[in-house]
Amino acid sequence: MRNLVNILDFSTEEIDELVRLASDIMEHPESYSDRCKGKIMGALFFEPSTRTRLSFTSAMMSLGGQVLGFDQAGSSSVSKGETVSDTVRMVSAYSDIIAMRHPKEGAPVVASRVATVPVINAGDGGHFHPTQTLTDLLTIYKKKGRFDNLVIGVCGDLKYGRTVHSLIAAMSRYDNVSFVLISPEELMLPDYVKDDHLFTGGCEYVETENLEFAIPSLDILYMTRIQAERFESKEEYERLKDSYELTASKLAMAKEDLSIMHPLPRVTEINVDVDDDPRADYFDQAMYGRYIRMALILKLLDTKGVDDRRLDGVERAGVACQNPHCISRTERGIKKLFDEYGKCVYCDQYIE
Ligand code: NCD
Repeated sequence: MRNLVNILDFSTEEIDELVRLASDIMEHPESYSDRCKGKIMGALFFEPSTRTRLSFTSAMMSLGGQVLGFDQAGSSSVSKGETVSDTVRMVSAYSDIIAMRHPKEGAPVVASRVATVPVINAGDGGHFHPTQTLTDLLTIYKKKGRFDNLVIGVCGDLKYGRTVHSLIAAMSRYDNVSFVLISPEELMLPDYVKDDHLFTGGCEYVETENLEFAIPSLDILYMTRIQAERFESKEEYERLKDSYELTASKLAMAKEDLSIMHPLPRVTEINVDVDDDPRADYFDQAMYGRYIRMALILKLLDTKGVDDRRLDGVERAGVACQNPHCISRTERGIKKLFDEYGKCVYCDQYIE
């Protein structure tokens, strides 16, 4: 059984396979319309979602399958104090595959350890969002025709933006990809993402606060929302929320074949006057989400007999993860595990 917890759970060859399968599904949807007949997806959304939840639902229904689940933690037994492990154990008995979104970082790692069906991470706190990245990769493939030789600008909330973390992890594996990281100082990319992906991948990057300065060099501009719900301080959010606004006039100096992407929802970071620009790819991007998720469901349902679940790591006497959003701080009955470098196996943050 395979899971998708981190985008790096898939090799670049497997990503190519998924992109090819999604493209074929887009061209011949009727050939896939009963491939999941009799199968059920458990959609456990402990956090709000529009595109991710609905595109998973649409994907499963387009394959002839059915979906059960909830779209807010308040309507499940979590509100009675049930753990992630117990909830997922139960839903494993009622479904053939699980897609889960949870506010705690590392919750899908916990889920995948106890589930008896494949678990898909549909976003865990400010950590990772691998299925958005699959959507982004299909978009890059459709718009650019390649994953290498790209200058990618990511702009906005790089600290809490889980889509950015997974996108950087995925793209840092390709040749000659460099990043321009555009954010206010307070929302810079976390060190664990830099250490694990940019340094390891040998990727060049620059950090800047200035969007206008960055635009002319970019092949892709990936805008993101300032993640209001992750801020400790409301005042800080209010101060930073309008840091960026992409407007049609700011695109005057951009490349003609720039691709403007955004995982959505947008607030004010892309003015609606950009929507008519042929380089605005974010609505196509959302549409691709349905097809890549169909490909993903087919792939994971076809991996019986394999077990990719790893939870290497050791306990360190008296040491707990410092990340206040890590699942290991709240989930009862799990061990607090770290790898040999002191990285938490759930949320990937390093202990001091
Ligand atoms: C993103 C998310 O949930 O992280 N949305 C999505 O899944 N398309 C981005 C966001 O909420 O800003």
